[in-house]
Parts: sequence; structure tokens; C-alpha cells
Amino acid sequence: MSSLEIAIRFASLFGAAAFVLGLHFMNSPATARRGNQLSAAGMFVAIVGALVGVSSGQDGAQMNSTRWTVLIVGSLIGGGYGLWAARTVKMTAMPELVSLFNAVGGGAAALIAITDYHLNAYQPAGTATATVLDIVIGGVTFSGSLLAAAKLRGRFSDPISFPGARFVSALVALAAVGGSVWIVAGAHNDFVLLAVVIAAAMFGILMVLPIGGADMPVVISLLNAFTGTAVAMAGFVLGSVILVVAGALVGASGSILTKLMADAMNRSVLNIIAGGFGTGTVGVDAPTGGGLVRSIAVDDAALQMAYAQKVIIVPGYGLAAAQAQHECRELGEVLESLGIEVSYAIHPVAGRMPGHMNVLLAEANVPYDQLKEMDEVNSEFERTDVALVVGANDVTNPAARRPGNVVSGMPILDVDKAKSIIVIKRSMASGYAGIDNELYTDPKTSMLFTDAKKGLAALVSAVKTVVG
Ligand code: TAP
Repeated sequence: MSSLEIAIRFASLFGAAAFVLGLHFMNSPATARRGNQLSAAGMFVAIVGALVGVSSGQDGAQMNSTRWTVLIVGSLIGGGYGLWAARTVKMTAMPELVSLFNAVGGGAAALIAITDYHLNAYQPAGTATATVLDIVIGGVTFSGSLLAAAKLRGRFSDPISFPGARFVSALVALAAVGGSVWIVAGAHNDFVLLAVVIAAAMFGILMVLPIGGADMPVVISLLNAFTGTAVAMAGFVLGSVILVVAGALVGASGSILTKLMADAMNRSVLNIIAGGFGTGTVGVDAPTGGGLVRSIAVDDAALQMAYAQKVIIVPGYGLAAAQAQHECRELGEVLESLGIEVSYAIHPVAGRMPGHMNVLLAEANVPYDQLKEMDEVNSEFERTDVALVVGANDVTNPAARRPGNVVSGMPILDVDKAKSIIVIKRSMASGYAGIDNELYTDPKTSMLFTDAKKGLAALVSAVKTVVG
């Protein structure tokens, strides 16, 4: 083995080690940034290693000026767009971006397998198996993630179904599996490959079309796991260890996240894979408790909070939309300075992506030890004087405890158990799942109808005024 080859293998090894360590650092918000930087450094070294390998003709790579031009221009366009998108994306649009990145990852992995199949007249069964898995999983991810991004952007966001949808899905799946088996059995036919690609892409669309309401996050993380798996398969096709490692890590962590999300939404993963999601009955099955809604003035809300002993702040999507995280931290600080015990209740799917609230509050320097996960905080609501709900809706809806509606079975934050509840939102409009929230008509609840940023800023100065 030449010294160049050894150096390239070391670059791969460094990349793989950096990915594993980087992922480990993401265990805690305190080290997550370092984890990201380490993984990015690993990726950079791995890419440089791959480029050196390609330019020195390793693994039979034959570069010419056209191929170099395509490689460089493609990398500049893709890398430039990725950098721009990641730097300019609003926190509220992050899930869409993640979905688009999933689409690109899955699509790129599938293209690798398509090219390899097209260029090699013969593939041994092992490589052919990786090829078809890559194409099928990558194809499903590509189309499914594009549709998921559109849904998150508010287009076709309602569950869409048509008569016989499941039958059509089964037919399409059968076509993809049939074509794949044929290819693994040794058939070399570009038309069969094209049929598999089209069937996989159709399956992705049919899989995501009926999804809506509260099931979206599960699907996003499932597609993320698919992206990783497709990339790992592309690694097998190319014989690239670093791709296998990177893909396996994304696939495994995405699968774990999917399981956690599924549990948080009360959907079984098996149910998801079998396509039995997003089909819950829409609407609330029982009257929402008489419907008397009490609104409250800022000064009265401030008075309640200033004389409380324990306050739990419950952030939701509205906090992110209003970019009110700094005002939220400021209110927490003012209350703490009065000797009040303050914590933040984080629901796993509050907001529009996993960890949305943790990221927002960490950005505003809310101390990590005040962020409490749902299981930890739920037992604390009973001895809480004021629960302040800021732009959170579905994740506090007691209707989830009853069957027959879109949030049924979803574990919720037990906000209604607090002695008093103040909700900041702009109107009585519903949240993501599109149903009324019974919490708002609870006799213990008062509504502070305003934008989260303005409302929190007003509360901060009102609390300061109350305590002189
Ligand atoms: P939602 O149920 O979506 O409710 C957010 C509320 O914020 C709305 O009712 C809205 O009421 C209010 N709001 C919006 N802008 C506001 C502003 N500027 N100021 C004050 N309030 C504002 O949010 P949630 O409770 O966080 O629940 C999350 C939902 O999103 C769940 O259904 C979940 O399944 C879904 N989802 C989650 C994820 C992940 S992974 N977290 C991904 C996709 C979807 P007004 O319009 O009246 O102000």
C-alpha cells in the first residue's frame, strides 16, 4: 500500500471518529456546538481525502477536465446554496430546510447507485442488493421529503387521501420490490431500473400525502433515518467506508429519534412504516366545556406572577414565530430575582422540529438546568402557582387524554393541573393540529391576547412596576 493510500485511509478514519465523537457531544446543549464543529471538521478532512484519492486515480477513478468542471461547479453551487440557506433560515423554517436536506441527501445517494448500475454491465449480487436498496430508499426519501417540505410550508398541509389509496400504494410497492428482485437476480436493464426509480418516488409521495396534523414530526425524522440508510447503501456500492459510517450514524440516530418522536405522538413506529398514520379522526369529540373564555390585562397577569412561589413557563411554536426567546429569558430572570422558582417545560414536539424549544431558549442563554423535559416536569404542575403558556397550543390540549380526535393519545404537558394558568397568544385560533384547545375554557385559565414578544416585554416591565 502506498503512503498516499495510507494517508487517505487515515483521513477516512479521522472523519469517522470525528462523526462519532461529534454525535456524542450533541448529547448536551452545552457541548452540541463543539460536536457540530468537530463533525464538520471530520467531513472536511474526509472530502479532502476523497478528492486526493480521485485526483491520484485511486479506485480506478479516471478524471478529465469535463469531470473536474462538473465536480467543482456542482460543489460550488451545492455548497454555496447550503451555506446560504443554513445561515439565512429563520428558526421557524428550520424543519423545512431539514426536509429539503433530507431530499437532497436521499436523491444524491440514489443517483450514485443509478450511475454505478448504468456504467457497470455486471454487478455481483451483493453490490446489486446495495444498489436497489439505495435507489428505493433514496427515491422514497427524495420525493417524500420534497412533499413534506411543501406541507411544512403550508401547501397541501391537510391529510390528502383518495379511494383505493392503499391499494395503489401496495401496487407501487410491489412494482419496486419486483423490479429490485429482478435486478438482484442478474437482469441488467435500464428500463427495469427506471421503473424501480419511478415506483420508489411514487411511493414516497403516497406515503407522505395522507399525513397531516400532529404526525408530521415523526415522518420528518423517519425520512431523516431513510436518508442515512440510503447514504450507507451508496457507501457499499462505491466501496467507501466513510460513506457507510456516516450513513449508518445518520440512519441509526434518525431511527432512535423516530422512535422517541413516535412515542411522544403516541404512534407506533410499526404503524408508521406500515402507512397507518395521519388517519385519525379530525375534530374534537366532545364539547369544549361551555366555552367561557376569560381574558386578562397585563397588569393583573404580572400581579399573579409577582406573588407566586413557583412559575412554570411553557413555550410553544408561537414563541418561536414571535422570536420572543430573549423576552422570555428576561421575564424568567426578573421573577427569579424576586425569589420565585422558575422553570421551563419542554414538550418533545413543541414547535416544528425536534429540540426546537431547547435550541431557542439555549440561544437566549436560559440556564440548561431550568429546562425540564415533559416526564420530569409534569408532576410539578400540581404545586405550581402560575403556568405561563407562551404560544403553545396542541402540546397543552387536555383533549389528547380522550379518544376520537387528532391529538388523542399524544402525551401532553399537564398545564391544567397548575393552580392558575395564563396563556399568551394572539387569538382563539387553533394550533398545528387544527382543533380547539379545552385548556382555554378551563375556569383556571386567563388569556392574554397579544403577540408573544410584545406580551412578554410588557409583562417584564409590569412585574418590575408591581414590585416597585
Ligand atoms: P401549535 O399547536 O402549533 O400552536 C402554536 C400557537 O402559537 C398557535 O395557536 C398560535 O395562536 C400561537 N402563535 C403563533 N404566532 C404567535 C405569536 N406571534 N405570538 C403569540 N402566539 C402565537 O404549537 P405547539 O403547542 O408548540 O405544538 C406543536 C405542534 O406542531 C404539534 O401539533 C406538533 O405535532 C406539531 N409539529 C411539531 C413538530 C416537532 S418535531 N416539534 C414538527 C412539525 C409539527 P394565535 O394564532 O392565536 O396566536
